[in-house]
Amino acid sequence: MASSNGKQALEQVHTDVHSCRLCPLCRSRTKAVPGEGAVDARIMFVGEAPGSDEDRQGRPFVGAAGRVLTDQLKKVGIDRRQVFITNVVKCRPEGNRDPEAAEIEACRDHLLTQIAIINPKVICTLGRFAARTLIDNGISISREHGKARRISGILYLPIYHPAAALHQARLIDSLESDFRKLRSVLEEELGTATSPQAASDA
Ligand code: URA
Repeated sequence: MASSNGKQALEQVHTDVHSCRLCPLCRSRTKAVPGEGAVDARIMFVGEAPGSDEDRQGRPFVGAAGRVLTDQLKKVGIDRRQVFITNVVKCRPEGNRDPEAAEIEACRDHLLTQIAIINPKVICTLGRFAARTLIDNGISISREHGKARRISGILYLPIYHPAAALHQARLIDSLESDFRKLRSVLEEELGTATSPQAASDA
C-alpha cells in the first residue's frame, strides 16, 4: 500500500480502536492502545494486551515489560522507532488477567488490518497469545521459541514475552538468544544494507 494511503488507513484503524465497543473491555479501559510505530516498518512486534501503564498512557509496552523489550532491541541494534508495536487485544483486561478467547476474537480484525496495511517482512510474536493468534493455535512457546516460519509470505518468529523474563530470571537467556535470532533473521530477510539502523536513544 502506498505510504500516504497506508498512513491514513492506519490512522483509521487507530480511530476505530479508540471508539471500539466490540467487547466488554471497552467499559473498563482508561485508554485503548492501538499500537505505535512506522507505517512502513519491516518488523512488527505483537504482544498480549496492555497493562496498567499502557492503559494509562495509551501506548504499548511502556511499563516494565516494555523496558525489557526496548533493552533487548537496543542490544541487537534495532531502533524501537523503526518497528511497529501492538498487541493482540487493544484494551487492558482488568487486573492483568489473560485475555479471553472472545476478546481476542473481537479484536482480531483490528490486528489483521494493521498487518495488511503495514505489510511487514517479519512479525515477532511476544508470548503465547500472539503466537496462538497469528501462527498456530496449538503452538508451545517453550518448544518453538526462536524458530521462524513463513506464512503467506511473512516470516513469523515466536519468542518469549518480555514479562516472562521479569518473572522467571532463567528466561532472560532464552529471550536474549531469541533477539539474536531475530537479528540474524533480519539480516537474511532484509540484507545488511537495508537492515534496521543501529539503535539511537529510543
Ligand atoms: N504486555 C503486553 O503484552 N503488551 C503491552 O503493551 C504491555 C505489556
